[in-house]
Amino acid sequence: MPKYARLKGTQDILPVEQPYWEHLRMRVAEIARAYGFERIDTPIFELTELFNRGVGDATDIVEKEMYAFKDRGGNEIALRPEFTAGVMRAYIENGMQVLPKPVKLYSIGPIFRHEQPQAGRYRQFHQFNAEILGVQDPLADLEIMLLAWDIYDSLGFQSLAFQVHSTGCPICRPQYVSLLAEHYRAHADAICDDCKRRVAVNPLRVLDCKQPQCQPIIAGAPKMLEHLCGECAAHFTKLRGYLEHLGKPHTINPRLVRGLDYYTKTVFEVWAEGIGAQAAVCGGGRYDGLIELLGGHPTPGVGFAAGMERAVMVMQAQHIAVPPLPAPLVFIAFLGDATARHAAQLLRALRQAGLGAQIAMGGSLRSQLRQADKSAARFTLIVGEDEIAQDVVTLRDMATGEQETAPLNGVAQTIVERLG
Ligand code: HAM
Repeated sequence: MPKYARLKGTQDILPVEQPYWEHLRMRVAEIARAYGFERIDTPIFELTELFNRGVGDATDIVEKEMYAFKDRGGNEIALRPEFTAGVMRAYIENGMQVLPKPVKLYSIGPIFRHEQPQAGRYRQFHQFNAEILGVQDPLADLEIMLLAWDIYDSLGFQSLAFQVHSTGCPICRPQYVSLLAEHYRAHADAICDDCKRRVAVNPLRVLDCKQPQCQPIIAGAPKMLEHLCGECAAHFTKLRGYLEHLGKPHTINPRLVRGLDYYTKTVFEVWAEGIGAQAAVCGGGRYDGLIELLGGHPTPGVGFAAGMERAVMVMQAQHIAVPPLPAPLVFIAFLGDATARHAAQLLRALRQAGLGAQIAMGGSLRSQLRQADKSAARFTLIVGEDEIAQDVVTLRDMATGEQETAPLNGVAQTIVERLG
């Protein structure tokens, strides 16, 4: 056993896995930019209070999962357990409220939750996240949902489907919540201990309880969609109309409530065929009260976030091909100590000419050539004493195996010509 091991729920992303990550990051950035989203990076830690208020005191994330602590200056801070609250803080703090609407932002980075690790669930993981601010029309919900969909679709994910629901708003939700609580109180003997607690602190969460004993109670519970106010019902109908018009398969899931308190109206997930059966790969929804709650002008918003580890797992499980990361074009091998400085000078000249190049760091010529083979370089340059005396080098085309003698001065030019 090594003396130090990585902490539970964390991962090393090794070089062999990097092509998947790079491909995923590139796709996210390409598609987000093509759809008019601009990148925003916010700090990895914020005041704990921001998440308490934004995500909600009674959520699992804040209650049980946040990496929250006092720093050396005595500030109560937390490693971000999600992007949205921090992005909203940045939007308010940087005066972005005066920008023309919509403001469309995306982010990529690490997220921290002290959860029980299992396949696809970590304590440090990565999300890509997108938000649209300033638009009440469900066209913004549609745009966010399509961004998520198109990213997975472009990666080659199979059997994509939307799950959608509405969680209402401060006008209709309280009435629904009291009906739900009444239903649960009537079945108090039959429900699990967690649900007994949830009914008191976060009643909507009873709907996504997985305990077998609670399933009949959920099935018989009043349905949010039957208790939406006129505005929320119209919003949901319009969104569904957009989805139907575009031929996007979606299932209304009355148990979809999601684990963050800020949601109003639309909530959704994208499901995909993953390592086994279809399951959620990302989730999001509308949060029309959040910016005001955090001290900004009332501004509607809608967004989603997606776990990147899960996306990489699916890419690997489904054998989705990803392009290899580009290796330096040229590998320089040299014969003997006396030629090392000439080889280093050549390396410098190639790099200055804009060609990617690396050099062997000692060893026999044989082992250097083995390294050249492994390096995936397109050309190997071999620098020997005789060659130096004649101002030439040996240039090997690794694709064809052909070898030629090229003038030392101007070898970069020769390489460019050989590349056509
Ligand atoms: P969330 O559902 O908490 O939403 O997380 C979004 C996604 O992050 C999940 O669908 C999953 O892919 C991934 N994820 C969550 N926890 C873990 C974990 N422990 N390990 C690996 N992946 C994980 C949010 O975070 C909201 N902020 C989304 C949002 C943005 N809503 C509006 N705007």
